[in-house]
Amino acid sequence: MKPGCLHRDLPLIQDADLNGKIVLVRFDHNVVKGGEIRDPYRIDRTLGTLFHIVERGGRPIMMTHIGRPKDKKTGKISCRQEESVEAIVRYLEQKLHTKFHIPRFAADPEKGITGIDTSINLAIRELRERKIGGIYLPNTRWFAGEEAGGEPRETFSLQLAGLADIYVNDAFGSWQAHASTYNITRYLPSCAGFLMQQEIMNLSSVLNPARPFVAVVAGAKYDTKIRPLYAIYEKVDRLILGGVIYNTYLCAKYDIRIKGVSAEDIVLAKELVEKDAGHKKIVELPCIVESDTIEGKMEGGYRTICVKDFRPGSSYGYILDIDPSSFEDPEVAEAIGGAETIFVNAVMGYTPHFSAGSQALDHTIDSNRHGMKMYGGGDTLQEFKDLCPGLYLSVMDDAQYYFFTGGGTVLTAIEQGDPYALKPVQALMESKTAVENRK
Ligand code: 3PG
Ligand code: MG
Repeated sequence: MKPGCLHRDLPLIQDADLNGKIVLVRFDHNVVKGGEIRDPYRIDRTLGTLFHIVERGGRPIMMTHIGRPKDKKTGKISCRQEESVEAIVRYLEQKLHTKFHIPRFAADPEKGITGIDTSINLAIRELRERKIGGIYLPNTRWFAGEEAGGEPRETFSLQLAGLADIYVNDAFGSWQAHASTYNITRYLPSCAGFLMQQEIMNLSSVLNPARPFVAVVAGAKYDTKIRPLYAIYEKVDRLILGGVIYNTYLCAKYDIRIKGVSAEDIVLAKELVEKDAGHKKIVELPCIVESDTIEGKMEGGYRTICVKDFRPGSSYGYILDIDPSSFEDPEVAEAIGGAETIFVNAVMGYTPHFSAGSQALDHTIDSNRHGMKMYGGGDTLQEFKDLCPGLYLSVMDDAQYYFFTGGGTVLTAIEQGDPYALKPVQALMESKTAVENRK
């Protein structure tokens, strides 16, 4: 498939007849922390789909997940106010000058909301009569059936389907197969929204990149990123590491110990070191910042140290950032400056105190004027915006930049090698009742 084209089996919102229909649309508006919106970027990117639904005569019922209200060990679902959709609804109402209704359903203290009851019918009537602009369902993960298996999930999917005539998935960031992203497609004509389409098209630039292709990957945990990291390693020409991933790699390669890096992870990282001994794709950032504490950037409590000075068997404190001078290193500067595609899924330092590395990275990448620069993920984007607000504003509409709304989704797609292998996307394509495909 050519980059920039969509698979012909993916049903699209622009081909669907929405007139007079109730449209159930799944967004990824997972941007609320402690009851406040951290960054509305993910919401803003979906406004085109919402406008289209209304402009085509559809009436929207919206939904999203927020946070992870289900305790993985006990299975208990806590419906906390700070993870409600209210902040999103307030934001949308103020932006769109309309009124959205949030239905309330009884919640079990352990199991969450056990079902959608008929009290919603009144609101649906008001929606049809245009007395309200839309309905926004409670956090999907408050419902017992969203992540459950078997019958509760099917029941919830059927209840969702019962509310509407058509289902639109515009939740690119929500790659996990849950009732509202996956099972629902079995019961309603289904199609992809505009954000989903655009993100899939841009994924092709990462999966079939113009070369040289450089990826910058960092992360707080080594073990959960290792599989996508290996997949990225196979794809790239050069790989730059940051954060705990880089620290772990350094321990494995130079036989040193760094505070906070586990022995098991170092064993895992040895594989990467061996792989790279042959391919030499990893570009090392030569200078890093060692700190005595993770509590903050204490006067006299941190210093820059350099990889070339590592001695086998030595132990170091916490490594919490990349020294900005690393990006002036000729090999690093040439790798970034010469790239035709750069993919960044990385926060270099231990935020909020250690941020100089990320700032230097973003500016160095920006000085590459010819390459396509792609950023993946909420944290990466938030960091970019906080550290380089001027640069962020100036590149928002720059055709050489693209900001994905889901980092986990991009990593999963790279790992699978195909955007259409993402479960929710697959479900749209396989939906038995999919809206008529494009000719
Ligand atoms: C995210 O913010 O990473 C997405 O919304 C996905 O959330 P999840 O990892 O909890 O499924
Ligand atoms: Mg995430």
